[in-house]
Amino acid sequence: MEPVTFVLFGATGDLAKRKIYPALYNLFVDGKLPEAFSLIGLGRRDWTDEFFQSNIEQSLRQFSRREIQDQALMQSFIRKFRYTVLDIGRTDDYKKLLGIIEERERALQLPPNRMFYLSVGPEYFTTIASNIAESGLGSAAGWKRLVIEKPFGHDLQSARDLNEHLGKSFAEEEIFRIDHYLGKPMVQNLEVLESANPIIQALWSNRYIANVQITASETVGVEERAGYYDHVGAVRDMFQNHMLQMLMMLAIHLPHNSSPGDVRKHKKQVMEALIPLSKSEVSANVIRGQYTSGSIGGNPVKGYRSEPGIGAGSMNDTYIAAKLQVDDYFWRGVPFYIRTGKRLSEKSTRIVVEFKEALHQASTVALGGAPNLLLIEINPNEGIMLQLNTKENGELKPVQIQLHESSKDIPEAYENLIFDALVGNPTFFAHWDEVELAWAWVQPILDAFQENLVPLASYEAGSNGPAEADALLAEDGFHWWFDS
Ligand code: BG6
Repeated sequence: MEPVTFVLFGATGDLAKRKIYPALYNLFVDGKLPEAFSLIGLGRRDWTDEFFQSNIEQSLRQFSRREIQDQALMQSFIRKFRYTVLDIGRTDDYKKLLGIIEERERALQLPPNRMFYLSVGPEYFTTIASNIAESGLGSAAGWKRLVIEKPFGHDLQSARDLNEHLGKSFAEEEIFRIDHYLGKPMVQNLEVLESANPIIQALWSNRYIANVQITASETVGVEERAGYYDHVGAVRDMFQNHMLQMLMMLAIHLPHNSSPGDVRKHKKQVMEALIPLSKSEVSANVIRGQYTSGSIGGNPVKGYRSEPGIGAGSMNDTYIAAKLQVDDYFWRGVPFYIRTGKRLSEKSTRIVVEFKEALHQASTVALGGAPNLLLIEINPNEGIMLQLNTKENGELKPVQIQLHESSKDIPEAYENLIFDALVGNPTFFAHWDEVELAWAWVQPILDAFQENLVPLASYEAGSNGPAEADALLAEDGFHWWFDS
């Protein structure tokens, strides 16, 4: 791996503390950081290097998936970190930063490869990117990369504007857009599920698959994020990005040994094959919901409108379910049902592939069996399960076979993604084409919600979501699998 300077904007923030430092530390312990590595943290607060380093140590103690066993090793890690105060809008501060980076590069004999990680609010992305470009922080003698995390825009137009601005300072190949779901090991596994398994490949089409269900349910509510969440809702917070990325990863047909370019090309093809919904079709295919009071794990919880910072008349969606169709050779006619929401009965991210009944023969279900299912558990459990029918005492009986269960000691999403960004592998980052196509697909939903063309269904906190979402599948003769 090439030596690099990691320039972290938002170094005193929450994401850095919870995710970025622990991820870097675990990469370091695994020998997956370059030998020569420097990190320069930037923030508004006036911190010294020592104070910064002690904060990192605390973050590792609190959030690292590995306990710190070797004190000397941990010290050698945090000694790579320096801190500088930077006002995002002041060009002079970027010139000063350039001096600091160059000084460290000389001291550590690093080439001018620089990765700029923007762990800050999206409203700062364009200012930072253009200041980086204008102050010459990207050197022609090395490479530069920009790492940003969603939200990439608020709707189609603002996403395009953002991208156009960023494009003035960074080329598409230099931009690494994090969608942390793409860093989850089981989502990464989807890349090879079909292409590396002839058995699955043989069944992976509308001939055998009845429907696909993608669920991301959460037990948490709006938490302290009312100001953000009440303006975005589940559709922008989860659906436009994480949910559609999972759909792309499941629906792609890749050649064996695919390149990052293949992955992106095929994901784009999936998005292009998604049948668009017009604004007037939204209400027949999309359910929007909002939680009312209820109880989670035996504890009473408030309804959304009573949460601090949320208006009594808020129409914001804390839940969305939708029926989508991928109109290509493989998937034509197979409904993809997607749902995500807050304050549901359990934390679970999973994909279920339901197979059709055997052809030309009596229904297995009528004989006591159940449809064959492939369950891909993404979070918090990770594994693959297959449901088949067996015969017991003369009757069919479904059995569930665990094909794979991940070990607990596996890298977290941010480790995978930061490592990939450091080596310049774009496979599991969101390309602009996908982001734009996802916004374009979602835009009629945003418009229909805005104009109240879709009724707001309510669901009790702690339930499996609104009854309307069950009806969405029931209309097609299906139901959601594995609801608790
Ligand atoms: C984030 C959303 O992108 O993903 C949060 O902004 C959500 O609202 C989170 O809670 C869920 O991520 P995970 O990894 O816990 O499923």
